[in-house]
Amino acid sequence: MKLQMRRPDDWHLHLRDGALLSAVVPHTALRFARAVVMPNLSPPVTTTAAALAYRERILAAVPAGMRFEPLMTLYLTDNTPPEEIRRAAASGAVIGVKLYPAGATTNSDSGVTNIAHCAAAIAAIEETGLVLQVHGEVTADEIDVFDRERVFIEKVLGPVVERHPKLKVVLEHVTTADGIDFVSQARPGIAATITPQHMMLNRNALFAGGLRPHHYCLPVLKAERHREAVCAAATSGDARFFLGTDSAPHSRSSKESSCGCAGIFSAPVGIEVYAEVFEAAGRLERLEAFASEYGARFYGLPLNDDTITLEKRSWRPPAEYVAGEERIVPFRSGEPVAWSLVQDPS
Ligand code: NCD
Ligand code: ZN
Repeated sequence: MKLQMRRPDDWHLHLRDGALLSAVVPHTALRFARAVVMPNLSPPVTTTAAALAYRERILAAVPAGMRFEPLMTLYLTDNTPPEEIRRAAASGAVIGVKLYPAGATTNSDSGVTNIAHCAAAIAAIEETGLVLQVHGEVTADEIDVFDRERVFIEKVLGPVVERHPKLKVVLEHVTTADGIDFVSQARPGIAATITPQHMMLNRNALFAGGLRPHHYCLPVLKAERHREAVCAAATSGDARFFLGTDSAPHSRSSKESSCGCAGIFSAPVGIEVYAEVFEAAGRLERLEAFASEYGARFYGLPLNDDTITLEKRSWRPPAEYVAGEERIVPFRSGEPVAWSLVQDPS
């Protein structure tokens, strides 16, 4: 069985820099026409100038003959001036601003300590029509790690959306029934990206027969009822939910460590695993809109006019990929994946 579909876009992606960037970008470029590139480098991409320079490094890492368009983001800090937001919007290359609560995830130390510090910047995001892309977790020690998304929505996101009635917001990598409900009931202009792992795995996958560092990501995997809610939303045909892999490569050594990094490297199976889970849900016919239409429409961008072809043919992603001196373990490493990408014979 073959499935030809409009070429998809990845609305949430980590590409890193240097050798890692060169190693990972071909996997995305083979499948996706465009991707929203997250700004959590070290140091973070806090200015338009840094975003434009990073964009050039990404384009230089795209293999000859492949077409790929990075859609850049700025990293919001307590001190981002509104003028920087306006510069970003005027550049045409930046499509959103990423809110990382300080301490929430990889390279978020320079993130926002209190959203009140960002009122002027957020007003500029609202006014320019850029999108606020939100890592939706509180970080307070007393809040259980599995409750962080729900509490963030109650305490931070709900009020921001009310204070800024025209602000466009993406609740990135939504993981809970609470997040799904919030987006479903919100005013227009609010959407969410959905990762493959949060559709496919519940938190048991972190402990299956032993500790599984390659299933550790943030927001962390949730209980089964939340996985079901995320999966139902993704396959519902509701245009507010669209594809964002959150592919987040880390070296094998930094994952398999006494303090392992959060992130799942899914780019090498970045569309195939969605086909699997949509098929399992009996909704394969809704994959194309989720992967190739809803995100572009939300961001006000044209749909891609070329196609990709998937085939129902099982393959096993390798144990690891080489990236300079490092090795990176992909999602579903060594396990059969039911769908394959049919590559052009060029
Ligand atoms: C991401 C990373 O490694 O940059 N990690 C992850 O687990 N998703 C950061 C993020 O998106 O939270
Ligand atoms: Zn991410």
